Amino acid sequence: MIKPDAVSAGNTGAITKMIEEAGFRIVAVKKTQLTPERAGQFYAIHKERPFFKDLCSYMSSGTIVPMILEKDNAVEDFRKLIGATDPQKAAPGTIRNLFAKSIEANAIHGSDSDENAEIEGSFFFAKTECF
Ligand code: RTP
Ligand code: MG
Repeated sequence: MIKPDAVSAGNTGAITKMIEEAGFRIVAVKKTQLTPERAGQFYAIHKERPFFKDLCSYMSSGTIVPMILEKDNAVEDFRKLIGATDPQKAAPGTIRNLFAKSIEANAIHGSDSDENAEIEGSFFFAKTECF
């Protein structure tokens, strides 16, 4: 998911190009916006964390671009492509290194397991939209 800071900065195209050049196939993509409540559902795993409220207001602050991506070893390879959560710690050339503004407004989200990728894909796309 390309996050609100990266979409509003006009980086959707550049980030999408990096994703495709890294060998991911875009199975589904759209532009949408979350309500704070839906952002809270998406990041429910973090609901006890001190940054949760801020995260929900940031994630609902503007347009996002969720995608379903396909590749061998996709979860691990995508986490490598996006870099560490904190852009100051993200390796050179990673998406967060190049485009993130802060540890919160960090340009992009990646699923952390195949199981969560399935759940998060279904959060944004009906099965009939995927092929
Ligand atoms: P993501 O789930 O978005 O791919 O990010 P991640 O795995 O690298 O990091 P995670 O620990 O799951 O945190 C989710 C998102 O919460 C925001 N965050 N803010 N203010 C803070 O200290 C803080 N820490 C995390 C970031 O937007 C992070 O990506
Ligand atoms: Mg995470």
